[in-house]
Amino acid sequence: MEIQGAAALVTGGNRGIGEAFVRALLAAGAARVYVGTRDVANATALVDELGERAVPVRLDITDADQVVQAARRCSDVSILVNNAGAFTGLTLLGSPDMAAAREEMETNYFGPLAMCRAFAPVLARHPQSAIVNVLSAGGLVAVPAMGGYSPSKFAARAMTTCVRAELAPQGTAVSALIVGSVDTRMAADVVGWKETPANIAAHGVRAIRKSIDEIDTDLMAVEVRAHLARDPKGLEAQMARGLGRGLSTGR
Ligand SMILES: NC(=O)c1ccc[n+]([C@@H]2O[C@H](COP(=O)([O-])OP(=O)(O)OC[C@H]3O[C@@H](n4cnc5c(N)ncnc54)[C@H](OP(=O)(O)O)[C@@H]3O)[C@@H](O)[C@H]2O)c1
Repeated sequence: MEIQGAAALVTGGNRGIGEAFVRALLAAGAARVYVGTRDVANATALVDELGERAVPVRLDITDADQVVQAARRCSDVSILVNNAGAFTGLTLLGSPDMAAAREEMETNYFGPLAMCRAFAPVLARHPQSAIVNVLSAGGLVAVPAMGGYSPSKFAARAMTTCVRAELAPQGTAVSALIVGSVDTRMAADVVGWKETPANIAAHGVRAIRKSIDEIDTDLMAVEVRAHLARDPKGLEAQMARGLGRGLSTGR
C-alpha cells in the first residue's frame, strides 16, 4: 500500500525498534504517526524533534480501556504497527511463579490481539490498510532460555496468520516481521552482532508497501529459519545448550 499521506500508529513508539518505525514512516511520507507510549513523558523528546506529524498517545496495550480509547482517538489510522513487547529473561520452570510467563503472554500476544480487534473497523474505512506485527526468531524455534517470551511469540505468529485470513476480505494486509537480534534496551545484555533498529524498520516499511506476509529482517532471523529447515533437532539441541550459558538466538 501507499504510505505517503497515510496515518499510522506504532505501539511502544517511544524507543528502540518502535522509535525507528516512527522515524521511517514519517520519512516515507506518512501524514501523521501516532507514537503509542505507556508514559507520554517518555516520548516528549522524540515528538519535539519530529514535529507536529508525530502525535503522542498514551497506550498500554494490556489495558483494555486504553486500547479502546486509542482506537477512538486515532480514527484515521490505516497502518498499525504492533511493536510493543516484553521480555523478562526468565525460564518456564526456573521462575518463582507464572507471573513472568503471564506478563509476556499479555504483552506479546493478548496486547497485539486486542489492538487488532480494536483497530480492525478503523482500518476497514480505507480501501488499503496494513498491520505489521513485530515478532521474533524465538517464535520460529522454541528457546528454553526465553521460556515465557518464546511461546508468547509463537502464539503471536499464529495469531498473525489467523488475523490475516480474517482481515483479507476488507483489504487489510497483515505482515509478520521475524526479528533476530537488535541493538535496543531489550537486548542490552546480548553479546555478539546486533542489527540496527533502523534496518528492522526499513524491512517493516517494505512489508507494508509490498504486502509481504512474513519477512526475516536480519541475519540471525535468516540463519535460524535456515537451520530449522536443515536440521530441526540439531537446532533444538543448540537452543537447549543455551539454557546453561545464556541466550543464543533472537528475542
Ligand atoms: N531487541 C531485540 O533483539 C529483539 C529481537 C526480536 C524481537 N524483538 C521485538 O521487537 C519489539 C520492540 O522491542 P525493542 O527491541 O525495541 O525493545 P525495547 O527498546 O525494550 O522497547 C520495548 C517497547 O515496548 C514498550 N512496551 C512494553 N510493554 C508495553 C505495554 N504493555 N504497552 C505498551 N508498550 C509497551 C516499551 O515501553 P516503555 O518504554 O514504557 O517500557 C518500549 O517502548 C518487541 O516486540 C520485541 O519482542 C526485539
